[in-house]
Amino acid sequence: MYNSWKELERDCRTCDKCQLSQTRTNLVFGYGNENAEVMFIGEGPGEQEDLQGKPFVGRSGKLLDMYLEHIGLDREKNIYIANMVKCRPPKNRDPKPEEQDTCIYWLREQVRLMRPKIIVCLGRISAQRLIDPDFRVTKQHGEFIDKNGTLMMGTFHPAALLRNPNNKGAALEDFLALQKKIGEVCEYTY
Ligand code: URA
Repeated sequence: MYNSWKELERDCRTCDKCQLSQTRTNLVFGYGNENAEVMFIGEGPGEQEDLQGKPFVGRSGKLLDMYLEHIGLDREKNIYIANMVKCRPPKNRDPKPEEQDTCIYWLREQVRLMRPKIIVCLGRISAQRLIDPDFRVTKQHGEFIDKNGTLMMGTFHPAALLRNPNNKGAALEDFLALQKKIGEVCEYTY
């Protein structure tokens, strides 16, 4: 258990607990305001993220930023973005359950230190792991559920929206629902 974000990040950066560590260029710890009330959790780094060491900096990141901007959120100011696994799975395959099991330790510590009021799961991998093992994004997206005092919501992964733009409107609805929820439960002025 960590008391400081700095120590957590320092130790995480040298992690070699699973095979993904062997093929990473950079570990992607997370990015944003550690004191924010809203946390986004994706799946794992892709190519650009691995090269730059930051989450969601490729094409799907650009789309995510558009949705964020639309509702007054900004990774430089009022949110934090992390992933289920911190190292890129080769060829962007899904992270294996055992890789998630190992890496979730770091994420749990991030959540414990940050104590966000709202967690948004971007895509199936994080929603199934953090909300419900049977979570179906197409059916349950945009629903908030209270888990031990933290409101959790799953929505479409931006990369899935790039593949299937038909869901972009539904994703926008989810972000608008998030904006409303932030107004209800967050103290920070957005
Ligand atoms: N997809 C993710 O799930 N996370 C990233 O950081 C980038 C792409």
